[in-house]
Amino acid sequence: MGINNISVVGAGQMGSGIAQVAALAGCRVLLHDTDDARISAAMDSIGRSLMIGAAKGRYSPEEAATALARLVPGGGLSAAADADLVIEAATENMAVKKGIFAALDGICGEGTILASNTSSLSLTELASATERPEQVIGMHFMNPVPVMKLVEIIRGLRTSEETYAEAAGLAARMGKTPLEVRDFPGFVSNRILMPMINEAVYAVYEGVAKAETVDDVMRLGMNHPMGPLALADLIGLDTCLAIMETLHEGFGDSKYRPCPLLRSYVHAGWLGRKSGRGFYAYG
Ligand code: CAA
Repeated sequence: MGINNISVVGAGQMGSGIAQVAALAGCRVLLHDTDDARISAAMDSIGRSLMIGAAKGRYSPEEAATALARLVPGGGLSAAADADLVIEAATENMAVKKGIFAALDGICGEGTILASNTSSLSLTELASATERPEQVIGMHFMNPVPVMKLVEIIRGLRTSEETYAEAAGLAARMGKTPLEVRDFPGFVSNRILMPMINEAVYAVYEGVAKAETVDDVMRLGMNHPMGPLALADLIGLDTCLAIMETLHEGFGDSKYRPCPLLRSYVHAGWLGRKSGRGFYAYG
């Protein structure tokens, strides 16, 4: 079929990054959000990011300008009707995502593929909110999206071969490496990454070391580009907690219990970079 028109639902950091790489890959992109202010903030940050990429010689200033012109603030979901593929990048909550998928199922043409950037939730369950489970798939991008090479591609139980091929082909066109994983809680990436982050939070909670030291141990000792707590702040502590809860509930194993300190930071509104405070303070 060929994917040329994309709608991205959710203009947070993941949605913005996905919109940016889709526009650079030559797609026309509508960016939707329930909050207009978030859409304008996302359009500004994508514009800035594209200009920085051009200044660094990753593409020409003309390519950056053309990509920006392909991006359209999308308003309500009804504008997604003509999309070849919709990527949902809303909050990591099954009820919210199911609501969006059910609405999109009623709005979009019968050929439209419905993809989710969920980082841990079941694609099979998400697909059950639609009448088109064969055309529902997971496309899990990594943060920061313009930099990271991986897209996990997750099939639901009823996802078709054709849908898989379109999603993997689109990820490759975006310059990413698509890797197929099965529909288990947290897939591969967060089944491994998130317990490490949670354990780093426990190390702080139990007073083993302060946050900076935990991060330095992992940076200097294991060559990680950033420590697990700085990474948690980048991902968002609310997202980290939601993923731990999905792992805990999905596997029923106490090894996935979220650290109480992570939970209390989220309750305090310390969500990491996006709120200005997490394990670190941001200017
Ligand atoms: N947008 C575009 N480019 C960006 C960027 C952004 N948001 N952030 C960094 N970059 C670019 C910089 O411009 C720089 O480019 P050049 O090499 O061309 O100069 C390059 O990335 C390196 O950046 P910096 O020099 O500023 O800093 P760094 O070397 O420390 O790299 C980092 C920053 C890429 C974020 C690196 O620290 C890193 O890889 N961290 C780990 C990130 C990671 O693990 N991500 C996965 C998180 S898990 C996830 O996303 C899934 C989930 O479901 C939770």
